[in-house]
Amino acid sequence: MKKLSLLLCCYMAHFLSFGQVAQSGLSIIPEPVKVARFASQFLLPKNIIVEAGAQSELASVTSYLKKKLSTAPGSLVNIKSVAPTASIRLILNKTTDPLIGTEGYNLSVKAKKIVIRANEAAGLFYGVQTLMQLLPSEIESAELVSNVKWTVPCVEITDYPRFGWRGLMFDVARHFFTKAEVKQYIDAMVKYKLNLLHLHLTDDEGWRIEIKSLPKLTSVGAHNVKKVGQFGTFTPPAADEPRTYGGYYTQEDIKELVQYAKDRFVNILPEIDVPGHSLAAIVAYPELSCTQGADKYVVNSGEPFMDWSGPHNKAIVDNTLCPANENVYTFLDKVVTEVAQLFPFGYIHMGGDECAKNFWEQSDAIKALMIKENLKTQQEVQSYFEKRLEKIVESKGKKFMGWDEIIEGGLGPDAAVMSWRGIQGGIEAAKLGHEVVMSPTTFAYLDYMQSDRVNETHIYATLRLSKAYEFEPVPDSVDAKLIKGGQANLWTEQVYNLRQAEYMTWPRGMAIAESVWSPKEKKNWNYFFGKVEKQFNRFDAAEIKYAPSAYDPSFTAIRNTDNTLKITLTNEVEGLDTYYSFDNSFPDRFYPKYTEPIDAPKDATTLRVITYRGKKPIGRMVTMPLAELDSRIKK
Ligand code: ACM
Repeated sequence: MKKLSLLLCCYMAHFLSFGQVAQSGLSIIPEPVKVARFASQFLLPKNIIVEAGAQSELASVTSYLKKKLSTAPGSLVNIKSVAPTASIRLILNKTTDPLIGTEGYNLSVKAKKIVIRANEAAGLFYGVQTLMQLLPSEIESAELVSNVKWTVPCVEITDYPRFGWRGLMFDVARHFFTKAEVKQYIDAMVKYKLNLLHLHLTDDEGWRIEIKSLPKLTSVGAHNVKKVGQFGTFTPPAADEPRTYGGYYTQEDIKELVQYAKDRFVNILPEIDVPGHSLAAIVAYPELSCTQGADKYVVNSGEPFMDWSGPHNKAIVDNTLCPANENVYTFLDKVVTEVAQLFPFGYIHMGGDECAKNFWEQSDAIKALMIKENLKTQQEVQSYFEKRLEKIVESKGKKFMGWDEIIEGGLGPDAAVMSWRGIQGGIEAAKLGHEVVMSPTTFAYLDYMQSDRVNETHIYATLRLSKAYEFEPVPDSVDAKLIKGGQANLWTEQVYNLRQAEYMTWPRGMAIAESVWSPKEKKNWNYFFGKVEKQFNRFDAAEIKYAPSAYDPSFTAIRNTDNTLKITLTNEVEGLDTYYSFDNSFPDRFYPKYTEPIDAPKDATTLRVITYRGKKPIGRMVTMPLAELDSRIKK
């Protein structure tokens, strides 16, 4: 009998180490490097002794574990520095295991003991995150949950990340998110082993960080007028409308956030976006502009102020700092000095994106600068600015990073590039020997809609979950060593609250997390989506919002000769049945099932669809006006 079970265990372990984890019921995201599952289980005791060395860097890991195990399971957790009989042991390797590096771990779950080993505390933290994903989803509840058998399947896991830079960008400038909300955002991202929070701290709609030597940045620049509706189309605020919407982080707040992130092994990358996107700073200090009349400007509240129609965006009000003005560099030196002191991370991101040049073209000061510095184009003017800024950043002991526009007109000597307009900028920078982080719109823009625009808050593009999952940070043609990693970006023009920020981030954040942690060859869309569905139960338990958009079909239509529509529905998720109606009623599984492109009846106005798995409705009811589909067909 013993022999038989041993044989069975070996068989399962062998079987599962080839990536068939879904069949084992494990749904770990990001997928670990190596997993072997065994037949038995560990049952969480009511009284848990955790042995963890007394090293101070372990304190945040043990307190995280203690909080999790004592909250939903209600266990009594005792942390001891020496307790050989402990049921959970967190061990820092005495001799470094080079395979798992600084963030990897080994997790061994046996019927009577759980052991996590790592070279550094970060690895133990990630081992704990994997352990949480092996517990029932109710572990994510913020309250005591009874009637759950708190078991962990026996496993041997070896795991380590593919990239050191696994980021999420959170735009706290377009809409201000409180310190508590940023902490909640961090809490969610670390579950998927993301380790970098890029805070977009300044923009046309607000300046969000206290700079003590420049108090007007926040006394003037941190608030605008609250508007509700479609951002970018609002009526210009009247002079008497209260400018009370927004806020900023004091330097004490920033220190608290940095520490909170550090305790969860997250670095915070600050971004100060210049020379474009700088209206809030200009309103606070109009003398930083090249343009007369900037003293009449106001912080943008979502009223139109840029013309995006041509190949190059044009500013309607000049939201740029003036590269020809020495005071701008003095200003930036002050800003960067304080930012560098507040954020221990080695890089400062100085923006550089979408800088309109139309006011510079008109400026006598810029014309004089171009003659003096022999600058031929406005791109070279920006490059002149960026190179001076790089020197300022480096003089504070930090590395300079910017969006890929900083390549135009000539990249500074040691600048790191964040590639967002596709991966081309990243390829170009890497070919020049520069460090690169990939965050292309094509795969990693979380502000994009997640399914058809009829279902989503409207923005100009769509990024489906399956497409986000295709994210591959290393292009074939470059030296992989220069690609530090990748990140997803959540811009918040259309994101007015944390619930919506969560909706936009999840599940696509998981797709990006797996793309930057897991071995490339272990990625598999169908398998991944099965895991995502299991993770949805965890989000439900944690009461964190996520988008169900992956269940929405995509719609395409052509016009028949009689002008009716022939409509094709495509699901990115396999194994779903789609039912539809044209008669304005609400379909269910007793309605026609979609099997091939469907012809809309002549006078029909609306197509409604819903997806099922078996007998269970799984997607939301989608209502597609036929006029909308018709309008998408090119004339
Ligand atoms: C960007 O999305 N403007 C970097």
